[in-house]
Amino acid sequence: MAKFSLTMERWVGRVALVTGASVGIGAAITRALVRHGMIVVACARGVEKIQAIKCELEAESASGKLHPIQCDLRKKDQIAAMFEEIKKEFRVVHACINNAAVAYGAKLVTGDSDDWQEPLDVNVMALCICTQNSIKLMLDNEVNDGQIIHINSISGHKVVGDRFYCGTKHMVTALTEGLRTELRAMKSHIRVCSISPGVVKTEMAARKARQDPAECTFYDTHPSIKAEDVANQVIHVLQQPPYLQIHEILLRPIEQKI
Ligand SMILES: NC(=O)c1ccc[n+]([C@@H]2O[C@H](COP(=O)([O-])OP(=O)(O)OC[C@H]3O[C@@H](n4cnc5c(N)ncnc54)[C@H](OP(=O)(O)O)[C@@H]3O)[C@@H](O)[C@H]2O)c1
Repeated sequence: MAKFSLTMERWVGRVALVTGASVGIGAAITRALVRHGMIVVACARGVEKIQAIKCELEAESASGKLHPIQCDLRKKDQIAAMFEEIKKEFRVVHACINNAAVAYGAKLVTGDSDDWQEPLDVNVMALCICTQNSIKLMLDNEVNDGQIIHINSISGHKVVGDRFYCGTKHMVTALTEGLRTELRAMKSHIRVCSISPGVVKTEMAARKARQDPAECTFYDTHPSIKAEDVANQVIHVLQQPPYLQIHEILLRPIEQKI
């Protein structure tokens, strides 16, 4: 029987898509994958921040490559254009990391429904559309060991805090199992994994409060883990041998109560 070791070797030179790569967890995942030799297509609206990450990685002579794309994931035509560019430049996607998400804390009873639309579009619709397009490119190119990773949340398993955001993340939990069963029915070896962090120190709390990140004090009072801790889990999932599927990783700061 063939032996597989836990290395990133088989991903070197292969193509990963990371959504929401301009800051936070997506930026950390992008850095980690490029440092492990992958070609990373990284998208967000703030593409200039991804360009800066590209310069930083080139300055340290990271072994992989970074290809920034500006994309507003609320817009289906922009997602379609991104996949056209990926197809033209790289032909294929081997790993798709659905990381982008937003939360605005709009209450179910009194909140503004406009603040539900964006989380629905980014956290759920864009995740499904990017997944579908990535799997199509995998199938068209006979990639049978591809990997889909959804960056989910503890809010995908418990209803706490922002209820609408929890609703979108519970959908991600259901969609992970839904995709697994569809892929099984197709006898595909493409895998899907959900990574569910607790509190991570990023721009998310500030964006939720529509605050300048520099003025955000949320993490002063809430124990948090680092974006790099989540990126390490992505690497761990990719390192697994092709016959093994990690379905869910739940991680939180030791001091987090929920
Ligand atoms: N931070 C936490 O405590 C925490 C906990 C559990 C789970 N998570 C999950 O971790 C993932 C990353 O969150 P984070 O904490 O790193 O958040 P963040 O710091 O707020 O970053 C969010 C990223 O998503 C991108 N994004 C948002 N709307 C977009 C759009 N319309 N089109 C394209 N990109 C868009 C942003 O880029 P642009 O604004 O430049 O477009 C940014 O790169 C999310 O799925 C989140 O639910 C976070």
